Amino acid sequence: MSAPLLRVEGLTVESRAGEAATRIVDGVSFALRRGEILGLVGESGSGKTMACRALMRLLPSSRLALAGGSVELAGEEIMGLPEAAFRSIRGRRIGMIFQNPASHLDPVMRIGEQIAESVRFHQGGRRRQANEKAVELLRQVGIPDPAQRAAAFPHEFSGGMRQRAMIALALASDPEILIADEPTTALDVTVQAQILRLLKEIRDSRGLSIIFITHDLGVVAQLCDSICVLYGGRVCEIGPKREVLAHPRHPYTAGLMACQPGTAGGSGRLRTIPGYPPASDALPSGCRFHPRCSHAVSPCAEVQPPLDPFAPDHLAACHNPVRQASLRTRETA
Ligand SMILES: Nc1ncnc2c1ncn2[C@@H]1O[C@H](COP(=O)(O)OP(=O)(O)O)[C@@H](O)[C@H]1O
Ligand SMILES: [Mg+2]
Repeated sequence: MSAPLLRVEGLTVESRAGEAATRIVDGVSFALRRGEILGLVGESGSGKTMACRALMRLLPSSRLALAGGSVELAGEEIMGLPEAAFRSIRGRRIGMIFQNPASHLDPVMRIGEQIAESVRFHQGGRRRQANEKAVELLRQVGIPDPAQRAAAFPHEFSGGMRQRAMIALALASDPEILIADEPTTALDVTVQAQILRLLKEIRDSRGLSIIFITHDLGVVAQLCDSICVLYGGRVCEIGPKREVLAHPRHPYTAGLMACQPGTAGGSGRLRTIPGYPPASDALPSGCRFHPRCSHAVSPCAEVQPPLDPFAPDHLAACHNPVRQASLRTRETA
């Protein structure tokens, strides 16, 4: 199998408040192959955004610091690069789109101009060629009448069209990797499905690799090739999507699935996992999920479980993993 395009190892982010420091991202590791869509999934507060911001070196506060980890892009270690060198990676080789495109588009600049400016910034060339490329990108992301719509301002676009424009802007630098942080969470279901289809098309046509952040396991089931489940800033389960969704080993993954009406293991009605995710200043000892876990056994409160293999590339960190028999028992119970 080919070497991964991106390899993240032991990524750790500390949040400091006075003397105390807590690891809000704690030893997160995953790999992304060329053309792969990896779903980073977990409830709100599980560290999805911070893990990706850490690898882009865009931590949003001086209280947060990168406390360890390695990031390899196409075999090259990029974590130790000086900031000036890192700028040729961030936004260029790795692009980003967000939940709220409006806050990342300039409200007083025409959409086409913003994209053309990014094209020129990354690739140089003449204004006219950049304008043509901008229109072409708008066409590729499914904006109708792209030549006319390029002259519009962001507020003249609907939410879905703004997200398409944001995707076009991210593609202007022709990145190898796109990090999409809950890009469809603010959209209605129909528009969400259109954007997911668009991302798949872009993956297919450009061979782009995508890290797709979502709290919605249903979206992962539709879109992704592999899945990385985060809880309390740690990876609790990772593997090929089919394998993980067919044989979830971590009770948290199984719990997320039970909350999904559509997927295997789903109960057919909406449920939630009892309890709440931990606050960053009150992370539990041992397995961070243990206070909410119906499977918890004696070591769980004290000993952090290692990520153990269950099948090729399928790992879960649990002292008392789910077995298929116990899944069935709970369903019939
Ligand atoms: N600016 C910040 N300063 C300190 N802690 C933060 C900040 N932003 C988020 N956090 C904390 O980091 C943890 C992970 O948050 P985040 O990565 O945003 O979660 P997710 O994207 O999975 O919803 C949470 O406990 C959150 O409270
Ligand atoms: Mg987030």
